[in-house]
Amino acid sequence: MRLEGDSSSLGGVVCLSAIERDAPALFGARAYDRVSDRIAIAVPRKRERMAGTTVAARKVLIRRTEIEKRVRAVARQITRDFKGERVHLIGVLKGACIFLSDLVREIDLESSIDFIAVSSYGRGKESSGQVRVLKDLDSSIAGLNVILVEDILDTGLTLSYLLRVLRQRRPKTLRVAALLDKPSRRLKPVEANYVGFKIPNEFVVGYGLDYAERYRNLKDVYVLQLPQDGTH
Ligand code: PRP
Repeated sequence: MRLEGDSSSLGGVVCLSAIERDAPALFGARAYDRVSDRIAIAVPRKRERMAGTTVAARKVLIRRTEIEKRVRAVARQITRDFKGERVHLIGVLKGACIFLSDLVREIDLESSIDFIAVSSYGRGKESSGQVRVLKDLDSSIAGLNVILVEDILDTGLTLSYLLRVLRQRRPKTLRVAALLDKPSRRLKPVEANYVGFKIPNEFVVGYGLDYAERYRNLKDVYVLQLPQDGTH
C-alpha cells in the first residue's frame, strides 16, 4: 500500500470491503465504448445507485485536517505552475464539487469555474452503456488553462473520455487534479497532474464521494463496509 502525503492518519485501515468482494453482484459489469475503438470490459461500477441501502460501518481513512493540508499544497503547486496566468477549473459532477470549492479558494490566481456531468457507464451485468456528457460546459474553453477537477480517479474510463472530449475544444493547456487516486484499479493509461492522496483499493465516501447519493457531506474520507450478507 503506497500513500502520498502525511499518511499518519491512514494507518490501520485494514477493513475488507464487502463492496469490493461482492462487486460483480452489487454493481454488475459494464461495457465501455470509446469513440475510436470499441472494447468491452467487465468493470465493477464504483458507485451504483442502490436506493434504500443502509450501511453498517465506516472507518476514517483520511481526516479533514489532512485533506485541508493537501488541498492547500495542491493549490500552491497550481499557483506556482500558472504564475501570472488565469486558470479555468472544471468540476466533474457531482463528486468533485466539494474538492473544487475548497481548491479554487486556495488558488492565488485569476480563476473561473465550470461544471460538466457525465453518465455512468451503464447498469447491470449486460449493460453496454458508454460514457457521455449529460450536462455540458456553460462556456468555451478555447485558449484557456483548463484544470479538470475530479474527486477520484479509479479505472480512468471517465477521465480518458473527458480528456478526449475536452482536447477537441482547443484549450491552451489541459491538466487534471484528483483528490484521490486508486492506481491499482486503472484500466486506462491516464494520470492526474495533481493528486491529493493515493489510496488502496477500498470503497470510500465523504468529502463529495457518495454511496447511493449519501455521505457526500462528510468532512473526512471514510472506508465503507457493508453487512456481509448484503441485506440492508
Ligand atoms: C466517480 C468520480 C469520477 C469517476 C471515476 O463519479 O467522480 O467521475 O467515478 O471513476 P472511473 O475512473 O472508474 O471512471 P460517479 O460516477 O461515482 O458519479 P458522482 O461523481 O456523481 O458520484
